Amino acid sequence: MSATIRRAVIPAAGLGSRLLPLTKATPKEMLPVGDKPVIEHTVRELVASGITDITIVISGGKGLIQDHFRPNPALVAQLRADGKTAYADAVEEVGELSRLGHITYLDQHGPYGNGTPVLNAARNFGDEPMLVLWPDDVFVAGTPRAQQLIRAYEATSCPVLALMPMSPADSHRYGVPVVKEDLNDGLLRITGLVEKPQPQDAPSAYAAIGGYVVTPGIIDELRRQTERWYQHRTGEVYLTDAINVYAGSRAVYGQVIEGQWYDTGNPLAYLTAQFAAALADPEYGPHLRRLAQGLGDPVPSA
Ligand code: G1P
Repeated sequence: MSATIRRAVIPAAGLGSRLLPLTKATPKEMLPVGDKPVIEHTVRELVASGITDITIVISGGKGLIQDHFRPNPALVAQLRADGKTAYADAVEEVGELSRLGHITYLDQHGPYGNGTPVLNAARNFGDEPMLVLWPDDVFVAGTPRAQQLIRAYEATSCPVLALMPMSPADSHRYGVPVVKEDLNDGLLRITGLVEKPQPQDAPSAYAAIGGYVVTPGIIDELRRQTERWYQHRTGEVYLTDAINVYAGSRAVYGQVIEGQWYDTGNPLAYLTAQFAAALADPEYGPHLRRLAQGLGDPVPSA
C-alpha cells in the first residue's frame, strides 16, 4: 500500500439544483468565490497538498470547467503584447494548474449515486488510495483540508472522512459519524455513518463533509454494489453505503478539519463565501467593509 496519496477525484457531474436557475447553463463548479471559480479553489488546494493526478468526473453541460483550466497561450501572448502583464500572468497560472495537477476529465457513466464517479475514476487509477473531494466545499485553512486528510491517512493507512463540528439542527443535511474513540488532533475512530438523521437520532455532533480518503477496500465494495445494480437495475450506488459495509469489519477514521468551511452548493453558504472573500480582498475589502458597516441592520421604527 502506498504511504501517501497522489491521486484525487472531483465528482463534478451533479446538477447543482439548489442553485437553479443560476446553474441552468453555468456549472455550479464555475460560480465565482472571490476571483476564482469554486472548482479552482479545490484544484489549487490539491496541487498545494502534493496531489499530482486529478480526475474531474463530468457530464454534459460541464465543458466550461475544461475551458477554464485549458492553457491558452494565444491569449497569454496577446495580453503580453498589449502590456497587460498581470492579466497574462493570471491566465497563465490557471493553465499551469492543468499541468501541475495533470488534470484529466472523465464522462460519468453508470448507476445514479455519488459512488459512481469514484468507481469510474478508480478504473483509471488502479488500486491506489485516492482523495475524493466534492466540488462544492470551499475551505479557507492554514493547512489545506486535503493535506489534513492526507496526514490522517499517512498516520492510519485506513479510509478517512473529513468531518466538521455541526449544529444538531443541521443533522438532516449530512452523514453523521458514529464515533468509537476520540484520538489526538481531531482524529476519531468511527464505526459508520448515519445518513441525514433527525437531531434526536444523530449519533454525534459532527457532519461528514465532502472529503474522503478512499482505499481499495472501499472501491471493492463500490464494485460489488455496482454489479448488484446491473443485476437488479434498482437503487443507487452511494459512497456512504460502501463505507458502512467496509466499517462493519475494518477500521475507518474521521478527521475533524481545521479551517473555515463553505458548502457552496447551499445558497446561503454560497453567498456567505462570496461575501467573506470580498471582505478579505486586499484591494476591495476595506471599501466593502465600510459599505457593509454603513448598511448596518435595519432598525425597526418605534
Ligand atoms: C453526501 C453524503 C453525506 C455528506 C454530504 C456532504 O450527501 O452522502 O454523507 O454529509 O454529501 O455534502 P449529499 O449532499 O450528496 O446528499
